[in-house]
Formats: sequence, structure tokens, C-alpha cells
Amino acid sequence: MANIRIPALVCLFFSMVLGTYATLYSPSADGMPPPIFILGDSTADVGTNSYLPHSKAIANFPYNGIDFPNSRPTGRFSNGFNSADYLGKKFGLKRSPAPFLSLLTLGSRFKKHLFKGVNFASGGAGLLDTTGSNLTVIPLSEQIAQFSTVRDNLTALIGSDATDTLLSKSLFFISTGSNDIFGYFVANSSMPQEKFISILICAYSDHITTLYNLGARKFGIISIPPVGCCPSQRRLQKIVNGVDGCFDPMNDLALDFHSALDTLLGNLSTGLPGLKYSLGNAFRMTIDVISNARAFGFDNVDSACCGSGYLNAKGICNLTASLCPDRRKYLFWDLFHPTNKASNLAAETLYSGPPYYVSPINFAQLAS
Ligand SMILES: *[C@@H]1O[C@H](CO)[C@@H](O)[C@H](O)[C@H]1NC(C)=O
Ligand SMILES: *[C@@H]1O[C@H](CO)[C@@H](O)[C@H](O)[C@H]1NC(C)=O
Ligand SMILES: *[C@@H]1O[C@H](CO)[C@@H](O)[C@H](O)[C@H]1NC(C)=O
Ligand SMILES: *[C@@H]1O[C@H](CO)[C@@H](O)[C@H](O)[C@H]1NC(C)=O
Ligand SMILES: *[C@@H]1O[C@H](CO)[C@@H](O)[C@H](O)[C@H]1NC(C)=O
Repeated sequence: MANIRIPALVCLFFSMVLGTYATLYSPSADGMPPPIFILGDSTADVGTNSYLPHSKAIANFPYNGIDFPNSRPTGRFSNGFNSADYLGKKFGLKRSPAPFLSLLTLGSRFKKHLFKGVNFASGGAGLLDTTGSNLTVIPLSEQIAQFSTVRDNLTALIGSDATDTLLSKSLFFISTGSNDIFGYFVANSSMPQEKFISILICAYSDHITTLYNLGARKFGIISIPPVGCCPSQRRLQKIVNGVDGCFDPMNDLALDFHSALDTLLGNLSTGLPGLKYSLGNAFRMTIDVISNARAFGFDNVDSACCGSGYLNAKGICNLTASLCPDRRKYLFWDLFHPTNKASNLAAETLYSGPPYYVSPINFAQLAS
């Protein structure tokens, strides 16, 4: 298959609102909800890459942010808020916790932010250190090292016992893996797919274990959406195979990854005392929206709202791109990423959805 030229940043998922499974989130005795830590890729990046002078995976220019308060581009790969923000809102914040790299610029005011949590996610990053390395991004291993610094900072402020207690109640959301799959296809790797999946799963296992050893206990994991249905991959399908539709080989890999991840998390929770997890099936959430677009209020689930060329998926979203008439009717904002509406649906489902979409418990139950 042809090379994918554009930086792999990822498309995401979303889904339906099912309030019935919600458990109310209860803040701790002092009224402050425990901090939220967010790691992963562009689906959760709230500006990290804008602080990396040489990053090629950036979105801190219009029309990105057109629906953000004051129509401000913030580095989010979205027209407005993303899933990290909508999850933050569910847990009592105004939006996602701030990017780690932005906190470093705050000097002594750094401290009071730590208790809300920190967002480490970096667009273009993946589970493997090699993923996104050409784009200058922060791989998951380095995001975890940054978290370790934050843990030191908390320890310096409140002592190690209180830090352990705080972290054991904290939520750790991780949204990653799509860019590794993009990387596999871009490289046209001759490695068998099962082998590649097992490498990704081993990496995930190491990352979760490292976080566990640093005190993390509650993991909200978002698996890989049907990346083959991103506008970018639909365009490729048209160019390479001459037909419309999703690029299935990528989706097959995403599905295999999900089942392997499900098994891994079951295994880890048996071996690591006190570990709790919730696995969001981003594949299922997204495919269901694509198959029943109207039921979810979408008119268009294959084109990018902002871009250029076939399906608006040839060029990136910038000021010379063409913009769709009604952003609330589109699943995809740009060639890889969901609109804020889609991200909100995703967060709703992760928070309160049924086991069909998020298992064995949802994010609300994870927190309680
Ligand atoms: C990918 O690899 C296959 C088989 O190794 C080869 O036939 C094909 O031309 C390669 N495609 C590209 C774009 O390099
Ligand atoms: C990085 O770029 C070099 C040269 O452009 C290329 O050979 C290499 O495969 C790329 N690496 C990754 C991980 O994409
Ligand atoms: C946070 O911890 C790191 C590592 O211990 C230290 O270098 C840094 O100065 C600390 N930052 C603040 C604001 O306390
Ligand atoms: C899960 O545990 C079983 C039994 O120990 C093992 O055979 C399997 O390889 C593990 N799978 C993963 C993904 O960790
Ligand atoms: C927008 O991106 C396209 C490539 O997708 C590029 O050709 C064009 O110059 C860019 N426009 C601006 C204003 O940066």
C-alpha cells in the first residue's frame, strides 16, 4: 500500500449517551476531587506539542479552535474541546488539566495546579518510542517520566504517604495506539501482524506496570478506534484500490489490538494488587456511529469538516482549507481527528456507557 504522507495523529471515536449506568462521582472528604492524569496522543493533547519548538505535529493555528472559547487555537487537534476536556468536565474540572509543559512555565504557581492533575498527551506519539520520533513528539515512556517528576513534586509538598494515598485515588486516562498502527502501515513493515500486536501489548504492559509502581491504581484506557475509517485512510483506499469506504487492513489490526489489550488488562489486574481498570472500546463506539450516523445527529461521517481535496482529506486544516457549513453535523474535524461533538459523545460513553462499550466498568464506576 502507498505511504501515508501526513503525520499520523489519529482519529478517534465517540458514541451514544447512556445515562443509566452512571454512578455519581463523589469527591473526597475535603471536597477536592483527586487529580486526573492524562497520557497519550493527539486525541488527548491539549497543547503539549505547541511547547516543542521543532514538533511537526502541531495544531496551534486556525481553523483549529474555531469553536473553542474566543475561537482560540490552543494546540488541540479539534474545532473546540477534545475528549480529555470532556472527561475533565465529567470529573468536576472546567476542562482537561493543563499540559505538563505549560506548568513548567508557571514557576511557583505550578504547585496549585498539580492537585487538579496534569495532561502529558502528545500528538503523534504512540506506545513505541519510535512512533512519531520523526515528528518531534513526546513518547509515552517520556510522558511517564514526566509524571514521575510530578510525583516528586507532590511528595515534596505533602509527603510520601499522602502522595501515595492521593495517587491511589487518582484517575489515569490513556488514549494511545493509533499512531503505532499508522506507523506499521507507513513503514510497509514485513513483520507479521501478530508479532506487531504482541510488541505493542508488551509495551503497554511495561507502561502500565511502571505507572503502577509509581503509585497509579485506577486506569481508564481507551483503545484504538477504526483508524481505517479516518478521512485520510478513506482517501487512500480510493487512490490505492479505487473504491470508496474504510481501509480494512488497518481496522483489522485495531480490532486484534483491542482483544489483546482486554486480555492484558485482565492479566495485569490479577497480578497487581489494587489495580482497577476500565477499557473503552473506541472501535465499537465509532463503528456504531458510522453505521447509524443519523441516529447520533451526524450527516457526514466520512469527510473532514476542515481540509482540502477528496473528502477534504488531502490537506491539513489551516486558514486556506475549506470549512464545512455545519460543524455539528460532522464526525471528523480534520483528516484524522473527531469534531468536538464527537469527542463529547465519546466522553459521555466512557463515563457512563454500558459494558458493551466500556468494560468491565465505566469511568464513573472506576472513580467511585
Ligand atoms: C510494500 O511492500 C510490498 C511487499 O513487500 C510491496 O509489493 C509494495 O510495493 C510495498 N509498497 C510500498 C509503497 O513500498
Ligand atoms: C524517519 O525518517 C527517515 C528519513 O526520512 C526514514 O527513513 C525513517 O523510516 C523514519 N522513521 C520513522 C519511524 O518513521
Ligand atoms: C519538581 O521536581 C523536579 C524533580 O525532583 C524538580 O527538578 C523540579 O524543580 C520540581 N518543580 C517544582 C516546581 O517544584
Ligand atoms: C495472560 O495470561 C495468560 C496466562 O498466564 C498468558 O498465557 C497470556 O499470554 C497472558 N496474555 C497477555 C496479553 O498478557
Ligand atoms: C495549508 O496547508 C496546505 C497543505 O495542506 C498548504 O499548501 C497551504 O499553504 C497552507 N496554508 C497556510 C495558510 O498555511
